Formats: sequence, C-alpha cells, structure tokens
Amino acid sequence: MSNLVAEEVEGLGMTVKFAGMMGVELEGTMEDCIKLNLNLRTGHRVLWHIHSFQAGHPDILYRKLSQIPWEHYLTDDGYFSVSSYVKNDHINHSGFANLRTKDAIVDRMQQKFGRRPSSGSDDSKTVIFLHWHVSDCSIYIDTSGETIARHGYRKLPFKAPMQESLAAATILASRWDRKSHFVNPMCGSGTLAIEAAMIATNKAPGLLRENYGFMHIKSYDASVYQRLRQEAGDKVTDKVDFQIIASDMSPLAIDAARKNAAYAGVEELITFEVCDFYDTTVPEGGGVAMLNPEYGERLGEEEALVETYQKIGDFFKKKCQGYFGYIFTGNLTLAKRVGLKTKRKIEFYNSMIDCRLLEYELYAGTRQVEKEE
Ligand SMILES: C[S@@+](CC[C@H](N)C(=O)[O-])C[C@H]1O[C@@H](n2cnc3c(N)ncnc32)[C@H](O)[C@@H]1O
Repeated sequence: MSNLVAEEVEGLGMTVKFAGMMGVELEGTMEDCIKLNLNLRTGHRVLWHIHSFQAGHPDILYRKLSQIPWEHYLTDDGYFSVSSYVKNDHINHSGFANLRTKDAIVDRMQQKFGRRPSSGSDDSKTVIFLHWHVSDCSIYIDTSGETIARHGYRKLPFKAPMQESLAAATILASRWDRKSHFVNPMCGSGTLAIEAAMIATNKAPGLLRENYGFMHIKSYDASVYQRLRQEAGDKVTDKVDFQIIASDMSPLAIDAARKNAAYAGVEELITFEVCDFYDTTVPEGGGVAMLNPEYGERLGEEEALVETYQKIGDFFKKKCQGYFGYIFTGNLTLAKRVGLKTKRKIEFYNSMIDCRLLEYELYAGTRQVEKEE
C-alpha cells in the first residue's frame, strides 16, 4: 500500500525520498506534516523524526533519550503517551521500552522545569513513537495522534467493515477515473461508496476531524492549521455527474451506510438500494463495480460462499458490460469460483490477512470475458 501513499504524497506536491514496505520517507516541515494529516486517504500516521541512535540495552535507551531536548517539543503541563515498534533481544516486551522512554522524557522535563508532564495511554494528545529494531533506535513525534486510517464518519459499523484507508487504497488502485459510475453492491456500512464520493468531490478526510497529535506540541501554530484546512475545504465540489450506487441485501446495512454517508457529508451523492447484489442497478456508460464479499474466515463458512462467488462472476459477465469489475477478498480459493480471467491481482494486507483486489475487464458488446483456466 505504500506505493499508493507515495502517489498521494507526490500529488500533494512533496517529494518521496524512499518508499518501503512499512511507509514512505520524505523531508519536510511541520506544515507539511499538517498537510499530510489533513489530506492523506491511504496513510495511517505521520511521524516527525526527532533523532536516531544506537542502543543495545534499555539503560542506553534511557540515557540517549534523556539527552533529547524534550522541552522544545512538550509543555511542562501537557500530557503525552508513548507507543512503539520493538523487535530485539534487549527486552522481552515493548511495554518496558515505552516505560523507559516515558521515564527519560519525564525526568528530563522535571530537571528543566521542576514539573512533570502527565503521561498515560490516551493517544488524543502528544504521542511519542519509538522504533527499536535490533540496536537501531529512532524516535518520532506521531503528529497524527489517533490514527488517520479512520476517516471519522463510520459511527455505525456493519459486518466486517473495511478500514477506511484500505477502502480508499483499493479505489485509488483501481482504474476508476472519477468521471464514470461507481457501483458498490454488498456495501455493508458503505465504506467503499463513501470513500468514492469523497475522492470524487476532493473531500479530504481530515475535514471530518478536529483533533490531531500536532496540535499538542509546543510549536503548534493554529493559524497554519486553519489556513491548510481552509485550502482543503476550498477544493471540495458538491456535485458529480455520474452515479454512485451502494446496495446491500440487509436493510440494517443500508441504514448504517446512509447514516455514515450523512456523517461524511456525501449522502446526497449516493443512491442506496436494498437488494440482492445481483439486482443492483448498473447504469449504462461503464465505470467500476467493486464488491467486498465476506470471505469465510471461520471454519465451515467457506462452503456456503462458493455459490456467492460464482454468482458474482455471472453478475459481472451479464450485467456489468463496459465496466471494470473488482472484488476485494482474503480468500483466493473462493476467488477462483468467480470463473473469469483476472486482468490484475493487487496485493493488500488487511489485519495480517493476505488479501487481493482482483480486477476483471468486462467488455461491452460481443467480446466475451475470458474464463479462468
Ligand atoms: C464484508 S461485508 C462488506 C463490508 C463493507 N465493505 C464495509 O466496509 O462495510 C459483506 C456485505 O455483503 C452483504 N451481502 C452478503 N450476501 C449478499 C447478497 N447475496 N446480496 C447483497 N448483499 C449481500 C452483507 O449483508 C454484508 O453487508
């Protein structure tokens, strides 16, 4: 997914230095961090690098962290939390690394001001992030605080909802041109349709959120944030000249999807239908039809889904001519039951499950979609 994050970063006018498995690196200012937090659809967090050093023991970690001028970043009456990724033989669990980090920061602040900032596990204020792999340590301020992978509108989840950043990533990885129809049968809580509507109208996910980690650090300039938020707001359009359709057989799902779309401010842009996915309206003119069917994570569920996947193949072939069809699934055995030849298989990881976004080109006219061999 980091290639999609990289594309988004470049689209915001910044230059990516390095794109790896876990994220992308770039050089920028705190203003850039704010811009990224407001605008990224596929990112999880924006980390502001403070310092890197070697530590082969928790005491060395403590000592090195105590040398960082935390008083430049934190207020003595503030609150911070520590989170981390730790993989080494120096300690057995990351909780201890977090504790040593917290102690180093608090002791340094006590020494400078004679007062200790409060700390705990609440990530809605300042968040410090420690990355400690073997003896390589890097320390960051997590300028997002709470993750930006959640886009703030899903007050009502339905069954197995997709994370908002993942839904946005699948759409951005698809061939949808933002000018043609977007059809989302089996919409559940509506995540894909809502993300499509937000993408189509340039609505930045950050416009739905009021609090970020960067707001709690010492150098925070509210006028910069207000300006960037205003700039993001000015880009939003309120109409689209194609259809976004979301359907589900469950009236409860559609009720949740409709309410979530209203929270996102895009309810008017989506047509909701309660029906079997096979009966979803597929407007003339082509576009994208994207489905995220259940994929039978529990024993015995897979068998019951075989017919559903076969029927999706039928739906694509008979009803979606002139479209690109997409299925997001974590079950590649079931995916084979669709019976159509995939044009692309794009890898995604969803809570450690190896998932795929499968793409099918569904020709208009007499050309037949090839069958899977
Ligand atoms: C994995 S969930 C979709 C989650 C969705 N992407 C989200 O983010 O909330 C699958 C959905 O398919 C719906 N569904 C299952 N079989 C269906 C069918 N035959 N026709 C229509 N909807 C169906 C379920 O009600 C459920 O909401």
